[in-house]
Amino acid sequence: MKTPRHFLQFKDLSRAEFDYLFARTRAIKQQFKAYQKYWPLEDRTLVMIFEKASTRTRLSFEAGMHQLGGAAIYLNTRDSQLGRGEPVEDAAEVISRMSDAVMIRTFEQSIVERFAAHSRVPVINGLTNEYHPCQIMADIFTYLERRGPVQGKTVAWIGDSNNMCNTWLQAAELLDFNVHVSTPPGYEVEPERAGLYGTDHFEQFADPLEAARGADLVTTDVWTSMGFEAENETRIKAFKDWQVDAEMMLVADPQAIFMHCLPAHRGEEVAAEVIDGPQSVVWDEAENRLHTQKALLEFLILGKV
Ligand code: CP
Ligand code: NVA
Repeated sequence: MKTPRHFLQFKDLSRAEFDYLFARTRAIKQQFKAYQKYWPLEDRTLVMIFEKASTRTRLSFEAGMHQLGGAAIYLNTRDSQLGRGEPVEDAAEVISRMSDAVMIRTFEQSIVERFAAHSRVPVINGLTNEYHPCQIMADIFTYLERRGPVQGKTVAWIGDSNNMCNTWLQAAELLDFNVHVSTPPGYEVEPERAGLYGTDHFEQFADPLEAARGADLVTTDVWTSMGFEAENETRIKAFKDWQVDAEMMLVADPQAIFMHCLPAHRGEEVAAEVIDGPQSVVWDEAENRLHTQKALLEFLILGKV
């Protein structure tokens, strides 16, 4: 049996493979917009396992599989045996015998790793506490569409050093750009948890305005990620000065764009005037989840076409 390729964190794919995936994304998106039928995954099945809520991830994977001629099955912990203590390894053995790929959204990264170690088919990380690689793939494709290659550019990350931040940092090492991070004290990046090789591609700033100065892309995310709800009150106080507002966009490069993976909280991590303003590309960013993941599914299931 061939060992499957997985996408558990951003660095599981090489820079050349991302170049290939972005080229495929462009072609698949164009075909889709022209209403051309493209069914390379006919008779193939994706199983999606959700241990946390989702709108975009579920929709983009499910619609994407249908559009590629395949099917998607939704499982959650509430009404499957996964929520009743069936070992992850056993679930992986069984689920991967009945499907062609599996997408998992869960808590610890170790859960997707244990699943992948016992899976006969590719496993995709649909968000863990540590990483959100599918989102960053869509974000970088969106940057490419709007402004060209991300190489050598500066991304300003304002707020929590969460799964999104960690994945931006991994992407920066792999694709050779810089991330300027500003987090409140006590919420700094942990390079080991982020899975980084070094610190060459990121710089930490105490002042969020300094992190944003001259940046080509300004981005943020919720102050409290899923699974951390108990910390919400403390975080609201700690993060209050880490809002991306018009003043912050003003110090960024005049051509800078704003991204947010969504869902967003206007008035918390981002001001309405920014997310709903002319520099925001959040709707394209959300749409591109669909196109980039279709390229990813095609690649992981069929290899290069
Ligand atoms: N950005 C993102 O992953 O959205 P969902 O939580 O709605 O899937
Ligand atoms: N950091 C957020 C992203 C949601 C898509 C979370 O993990 O809840």
